[in-house]
Amino acid sequence: MTQKPKAKKLLQVAREAWDPEKIVVQYDDVRLKMLSYAILAPNPFNKQPWQLLLKNTNEINLYIDPDRLLPMTDPLHRLIYVSQGTFLELLSIAAKEFGYKPSIQLFPEGIDPVEKTGKSPVAKIIIEKTKVEKEDLFNQIPLRVTNRRPYKGPPITEEELNILQKSYSEKNYPMRFITDAEKISKIANLMAEAFKIEVYTERTYAATPKMFRFNANEVAMHRDGFSYENMGVTGNIKFFAEKFSGRDKSFSESFKKRTVNSVDKNAHTAKTFGIMFTQENNRIEQVEIGRRYARVHLMATKLNLSMQMMSQILEEYEELVEVQKKFLEIIKPYKGIPQLLFRIGHAKLTPHSPRRKLDDFLKS
Ligand SMILES: Cc1cc2nc3c(=O)[nH]c(=O)nc-3n(C[C@H](O)[C@H](O)[C@H](O)COP(=O)(O)O)c2cc1C
Repeated sequence: MTQKPKAKKLLQVAREAWDPEKIVVQYDDVRLKMLSYAILAPNPFNKQPWQLLLKNTNEINLYIDPDRLLPMTDPLHRLIYVSQGTFLELLSIAAKEFGYKPSIQLFPEGIDPVEKTGKSPVAKIIIEKTKVEKEDLFNQIPLRVTNRRPYKGPPITEEELNILQKSYSEKNYPMRFITDAEKISKIANLMAEAFKIEVYTERTYAATPKMFRFNANEVAMHRDGFSYENMGVTGNIKFFAEKFSGRDKSFSESFKKRTVNSVDKNAHTAKTFGIMFTQENNRIEQVEIGRRYARVHLMATKLNLSMQMMSQILEEYEELVEVQKKFLEIIKPYKGIPQLLFRIGHAKLTPHSPRRKLDDFLKS
């Protein structure tokens, strides 16, 4: 079953940001060129929780968009801060590509309390035209995708894991790979357990149907969230899923059951789980770990590996406490605080998720 031409066109437009070379020609301001790459950063639920204030001719201020938080699944906004880091890393790589050195100052006006998130900038970035070394990872920015398909094929090789490890700046932020089949299976079981809790807790489940785009019209209207295609559902199955499901039906028992089963199945296909740790759990570390995650995901893209962040176990709400205790048991011995968990493997690519227009991110 092929997409109708109208739906295809709508999706193309909603995903136009993924052809940044074409987008940037319209801008004279080099900051807008760089930012066209930064908005392609991974971010939770594809909320795109970024706001940008441009000052003078060389300054960008990055803010959290307070209207794009995930208060139920991420009540302390940890994942939102992580995605400020993914954004900053892509911005930094893009700045170098355009011949600018980015100087990034985190929290130039201090750190907001949780209830005032978004009030002060997360970062002030000054760009300076100078001789800078370009980064190889730049070319991977428009190719990277969060791949939620089942992973297939061979295990991740030692060499690939070494390359990923080397793309990562470890000091104070250890990264560990779990390659042992028994541990992978235990973590996958816990992933399913955590996801089940999220789905069957009314409060935390609300975010999923809210951010899920059930058809091309919804994708085009919002240009955020994710859709069946981003879950790796295509062809006839996608056609029938779009035709016979919808926001109302997503609260049905059968929809919830299918969703949990699919996460369970996919988590078990992980060839490797990656875990990134911090020493404490402060805002600077959350941003810094986001920067590091972005690099690893770009490097995985270069190696033709698929990756998917799987946050459910580590989300910060009380119903997950027991699952988290079990997780810490499995990954023993470890030092620090597990901050991010993701699976790595091989899979056919999925289409990109949409992005809003750059203008939407600019604040005055
Ligand atoms: C902090 C953070 C947490 C995320 N958690 C999950 C998750 O639990 N499950 C998932 O499928 N994707 C997760 N993602 C991936 C986002 O959903 C994805 O980046 C977003 O939908 C945009 O898609 P893209 O990465 O393909 O550009 C996470 C990403 C970030 C940065």
